[in-house]
Amino acid sequence: MEQTELGRSGIKISRLGIGAWQAGGKQWGEDVRDADCIAAVVRAHELGINFVDSAEVYGNGHSEEVLSKALAEIGRDEMVVATKVAGSHLRHDDVLKACDASLKRLGTDVIDLYQIHWPSVWEQVPLKETMKALEKLQKDGKIRAIGVSNFAVRDMEEARSALSSTDISSNQVQYSMIHREIEKEVLPYCQKEKITVLAWAPLGEGALTGKYSKDKTPKDAVREHHYFFRPQNIEAINGLVKQLGEVGKAHGKSAPQVALNWLLKKDRVVPIPGAKTPMQAEHNAGAYGWDFTSKELSRLNKAIESLKLEAL
Ligand SMILES: NC(=O)c1ccc[n+]([C@@H]2O[C@H](COP(=O)([O-])OP(=O)(O)OC[C@H]3O[C@@H](n4cnc5c(N)ncnc54)[C@H](OP(=O)(O)O)[C@@H]3O)[C@@H](O)[C@H]2O)c1
Repeated sequence: MEQTELGRSGIKISRLGIGAWQAGGKQWGEDVRDADCIAAVVRAHELGINFVDSAEVYGNGHSEEVLSKALAEIGRDEMVVATKVAGSHLRHDDVLKACDASLKRLGTDVIDLYQIHWPSVWEQVPLKETMKALEKLQKDGKIRAIGVSNFAVRDMEEARSALSSTDISSNQVQYSMIHREIEKEVLPYCQKEKITVLAWAPLGEGALTGKYSKDKTPKDAVREHHYFFRPQNIEAINGLVKQLGEVGKAHGKSAPQVALNWLLKKDRVVPIPGAKTPMQAEHNAGAYGWDFTSKELSRLNKAIESLKLEAL
């Protein structure tokens, strides 16, 4: 699989990554198994994916522990490992402590990309304080690159201005055919500034796979109350999925593979679909390596533009 530079860090990552929130455990459903999550990362690596994303909050560290087992199998240096410090740990010393704990759980001595999971909305920790801690971690060799997540343009600008010897490499944000808010400001800014956009929920948390309907919705903690799965919304999304399936058919591809490929067309965007099993990881890797015709692309864009979801 083709690789791209993570921001301007010099680190090369595959055009598609894999998300490891699922490895956090049962909040993604009763069918989640550690062994399957490990096998999913191993399978993704076999198919050319070298970028994996976790966070200290995923299963209270369990995702990182599971990931360490996958890394032991694959070989640590084969993967670019990203994790995140929680938005509630953004005080200087809390960042240092959180990083040490993640390093331990991951069984590694360096994190390739260390991200602020979300801005400090409640404690209002000044970003400057957090960025100084991240810069220290980089100088100490504990992290290779700094990233942010769920940051608006003004937050990215503030974060960057607090860094003296380095820059942010990425912003991890929700981006899919059914959630395109970042197209207004965040995406153009990142493209201009050479900041990689790591697209979370690129499959709409499973809504873009076509396996859910108003009579069959996910019952796990993450998705039970998610607006994508409200009856009228999932029906509307399935109308779009039908068209994705029709477009994909000519290429021997499925609706979710079309949804991921649509993101791959965007400059600087690296989708990180979550996978619970090696089969899902393999299927998602099949989103890479083929192309739509321009007619198909304009059909998809028209269908996406006309989709209306009720979010409130
Ligand atoms: N920074 C943040 O704030 C933030 C927030 C959310 C996620 N993330 C990161 O982004 C990653 C991806 O986002 P996400 O996991 O929320 O959503 P997603 O990737 O859109 O959806 C993942 C879910 O879709 C289903 N799925 C995946 N591949 C499939 C396939 N080939 N066929 C059928 N079903 C498939 C699986 O659930 P079922 O099989 O149960 O349907 C899987 O758990 C996460 O793992 C995490 O690393 C970050």
